[in-house]
Amino acid sequence: MPATCDVVVLLSGTGGNLQAMIDSFKDGNHPVRIRAVISNRADAFGLQRARDTGIEACVLDHKAYDGREAFDAALIELIDTFQPQLVVLAGFMRILSAGFVRHYQGRLLNIHPSLLPLYKGLHTHQRVLEAGDAEHGCSVHFVTEELDGGPLVVQAVIPVESDDSAASLAQRVHAQEHQIYPLAVRWFAEGRLSLGEEGALLDGQLLAAHGHLIRT
Ligand code: GAR
Repeated sequence: MPATCDVVVLLSGTGGNLQAMIDSFKDGNHPVRIRAVISNRADAFGLQRARDTGIEACVLDHKAYDGREAFDAALIELIDTFQPQLVVLAGFMRILSAGFVRHYQGRLLNIHPSLLPLYKGLHTHQRVLEAGDAEHGCSVHFVTEELDGGPLVVQAVIPVESDDSAASLAQRVHAQEHQIYPLAVRWFAEGRLSLGEEGALLDGQLLAAHGHLIRT
């Protein structure tokens, strides 16, 4: 078993992905250790999930800072007190400054509710329906300075059914997120996943542009 991989999770909301990681890593058969959860919102339910599991939960309110750079600098300072090998964005609804992203280059992962590069940004389920797409899904990627644009690690693809609503799609996409995010974090912690010059590497092999593909 490789050395422990300390992880800090950033979130702004309910923390379904955090919970999926907590549940997935319960078995102890992996090197992941979630050291802390940090939220920019004091009312984020994800903080409660962390506390319930004995994980340190911290709040850093972006409204208390004068601008993005100042907040991100304070965030870096707080994250680095935990000396994580990996920082995981799990529904952290803030655009991060270039300085922040560079600081964690190669050790910053994000999950997004679409098959990137399709549907960057918000309201992805509704946009998929409006476009009449046959497929939808979610993506885990390394974060780079391009918003929702970093090298893809893993994607889960689901079919869009004729009676789907944005809510039903969201539900099925979330279920897939809860599979692929713990998987990607586990790969990273095991030393199998890294960011190379040309893209994401799994077991030393460059992944395809869409990352590792899982179809349901
Ligand atoms: C997830 O669906 C995640 O993909 C999305 O926020 C949700 C958080 O849910 N992230 C983004 O849209 C980032 N661009 P959770 O709080 O239950 O994990």
